[in-house]
Amino acid sequence: MAVKQGEKGFQPLTEAAAGKVAGVASRGSFVTAIGVITATLGSAVGLGNIWKFPSLTGLNGGASFLLVYLLSTLFVGLPVMISELTIGRRTRANAIGALQKVAGSDRTPWLVIGVLGVLSAFFILAFYTEVAGWVFAYIVKSVSGGLLSTDPAVTTGVFTSLITDPVQSLVWQWLVLVLVGFIIILGVSKGIEQTTKRLMPVLFALLLILVVRSLTLPGAGEGLAFLFKPDFSLLTKDVLLAAMGLSFFKLSVGMGTMITYGSYYREDQNIPKTALTVMLADLSVSILAGLAIFPAVFTFGYEPTAGPSLLFITIPSIFASLPFGSVFMVMFFVLAAIAALGAMLSIFEVPVAYLNERFNISRRTSSIIIGVLLALVGSLAALSNSLTANLKLFGLTMFDLFDFTTSNIFLPVGGLLLTIFVGWIWNPKETEDELTNKGVIKNTSVVKAFILICRFVSPVLILIILLNGLGLF
Ligand code: PHE
Repeated sequence: MAVKQGEKGFQPLTEAAAGKVAGVASRGSFVTAIGVITATLGSAVGLGNIWKFPSLTGLNGGASFLLVYLLSTLFVGLPVMISELTIGRRTRANAIGALQKVAGSDRTPWLVIGVLGVLSAFFILAFYTEVAGWVFAYIVKSVSGGLLSTDPAVTTGVFTSLITDPVQSLVWQWLVLVLVGFIIILGVSKGIEQTTKRLMPVLFALLLILVVRSLTLPGAGEGLAFLFKPDFSLLTKDVLLAAMGLSFFKLSVGMGTMITYGSYYREDQNIPKTALTVMLADLSVSILAGLAIFPAVFTFGYEPTAGPSLLFITIPSIFASLPFGSVFMVMFFVLAAIAALGAMLSIFEVPVAYLNERFNISRRTSSIIIGVLLALVGSLAALSNSLTANLKLFGLTMFDLFDFTTSNIFLPVGGLLLTIFVGWIWNPKETEDELTNKGVIKNTSVVKAFILICRFVSPVLILIILLNGLGLF
């Protein structure tokens, strides 16, 4: 049966058939067009929207940060995302194998992108699973009512006792790892695609309810002004670096996640359109999360600059002031847990796909190996507020070190190399072929603009911000 191309008229395929379409029958594949979107969006939407975006926006002056972040997403995040999806689908291989294929050699220096990617996946998951662990713990705590207090001393106490207790920290992180590993073992379609297809609608519904609740509070105006009125005096080079780092982290790019997911894309998926849709939907989730949080923060007289503790200390205090607060609080943390889950699946998949393909180790065994390694590396981050608190490098705890180096260095470097590769090294014919679905989609101007941006805009911007932010220029 010929598969209909173009963006309309998608037929669901069986995973084997989708694999055949892909030309690689044994590889996993996303089966439905909607599943491609939910999985990709599930990767992009994560704690980045609910924890990093609001706290970085709060710390860096609100609207002016938002504006820089927007520009960075458009001229850096999106082009890197399209580059990765293109390379992934073109090669139908894991992050490292894909670079070997496009560079036409097993020992190409471009391999560094894939290697950095697999390393980034490890270090991101090491701290990400910990924050996700706190979120899961908070669902339980908000159901049991232990968090419901308007006294910040009480909510601070709950958070501090959670993160400084080595047993709780490890148990929650490992539970999260087991859950993610289990879904990954189920497979690309049955695990990742099915899970995100069911959960993404729930995420949007919960978010909308919370936004309506927050916007109907008396402090809504102040919250809106904070998010949408820029104050450019707050823009420093650190803020620029943070905004660019966030745009990489947000769209899950610079580390091979999108190469890996792209390798499971259907042949008839319109890559530029999918990437743009995911970028816009992800941005909407970030802004909606901001709308759910800041009006409430101002209404109850809290500081918007609380940083990461915004999520775990300020938010519970705010909910405690609302009628039916515990219901909203449970909703909020379920929302955060769903978001974190979709993102973790995509990160975990990067090393699993590599082990599976490179060493021919089954998906199940690969997942167990990666899970165990992650539990080890991850515990260094998980114990950052207890047993490993004094283990510091460059003055940062392991948790902060993993977070800072991945977002602000590894991902931008990966993105820089990727855009240089696609803009300058790779034959533009291959890019065009892939982005037009072999000439089926009539979007040559999009392709031309994309290649120009990869040549002259993204790498230059990334390099300037990166060197500047690191104090090297
Ligand atoms: N995009 C995810 C978030 O915003 C995090 C992520 C980073 C996922 C890198 C995959 C790769 O939470």
